[in-house]
Amino acid sequence: MIRLEHVAKRYKMGEVVVTALDDVSLEVDKGEFLVVLGPSGSGKTTLLNIIGALDEPTSGEVHINGGTVSLNSTGDRFRFRRETVSFIFQTFNLFPSLTALENVQFVLDMANTSDSAERARDVLASVGLGERVNHFPHELSGGEQQRVAIARALATGNPILLADEPTGELDFKTGIQILDLLAHQAGDGKTVLVVTHNREISRIADRVVELSSGHIISDGPPRTGKAAIADLQW
Ligand SMILES: Nc1ncnc2c1ncn2[C@@H]1O[C@H](COP(=O)(O)OP(=O)(O)O)[C@@H](O)[C@H]1O
Ligand SMILES: [Mg+2]
Repeated sequence: MIRLEHVAKRYKMGEVVVTALDDVSLEVDKGEFLVVLGPSGSGKTTLLNIIGALDEPTSGEVHINGGTVSLNSTGDRFRFRRETVSFIFQTFNLFPSLTALENVQFVLDMANTSDSAERARDVLASVGLGERVNHFPHELSGGEQQRVAIARALATGNPILLADEPTGELDFKTGIQILDLLAHQAGDGKTVLVVTHNREISRIADRVVELSSGHIISDGPPRTGKAAIADLQW
C-alpha cells in the first residue's frame, strides 16, 4: 500500500543544509495501524507530508497503491488528495463558522456526493457525535473537535489516513481515546498512520516506527509491550 525506498529530504537554509529524513525505507500494508514515534525535529511531519504528497523527497521513491506519487501535475495531486489520502492535524483545522455537520458535509459536496447531509450525519454518529452535529467548533471540546476532523477524513472514504500529532492539543486521556478511535479505523481496507512524540500513547499500537534525527531506529511492536488503554500511565 505504502512503500518508501531510500527517501531523503534535505532543506537548504542559505549555506546550511538541514537533513530532515535520511535514507528512510518503509513498507506499510493495507489495513495496518502504524504509529510513528520520535522527538520534536526527528522528521515525523516530513515523513507524513511526503507520504501524503504535500512535500517531495530530495531523493528516493514513494509508491502508493503501486503507483509513483508525483507532485508534477496539479490534476494528479488533486485527485490523489481527493481519492487516496486524508490528513488529520494537531490543531483540528475545522472551519470555525461552520457547524460540525457542515464541516463534514463540505468535503462531500466538494466531491459531488449525493445525500451529503445524511452521509455527514452518519459518519459523525460513527465517531460518537450524533448529538453534536449542529454545534460550532467553539462549542465543542478539543476531543470532540478532533472527532469532527476524523469524521471529515472518514467521510471521503479515502483508504489512507495520515494523522500528525492528532493528540498534541489534548489531555492524555482524551488523546488516548482519539488514538483508539483512529486504531479502530484500520483494517477493512483502511491504512492509518499516526505521528506522536508520546511513547506511552504509542503503546496501544501493534507497530511503532521510531524516528531519530531523520533515521528509522526501530520498527516493531511497542518496546515495553502492547498495552490496553486502561493500563496506560499518566
Ligand atoms: N520547510 C522547512 N525548511 C527547513 N527546515 C525544515 C523544514 N521543515 C522541517 N525542517 C527541519 O527538518 C527537521 C525535521 O522536521 P519535522 O519533520 O517537522 O520534525 P517533527 O515533525 O518530528 O518535529 C527539523 O530539523 C526541522 O527544523
Ligand atoms: Mg511535526
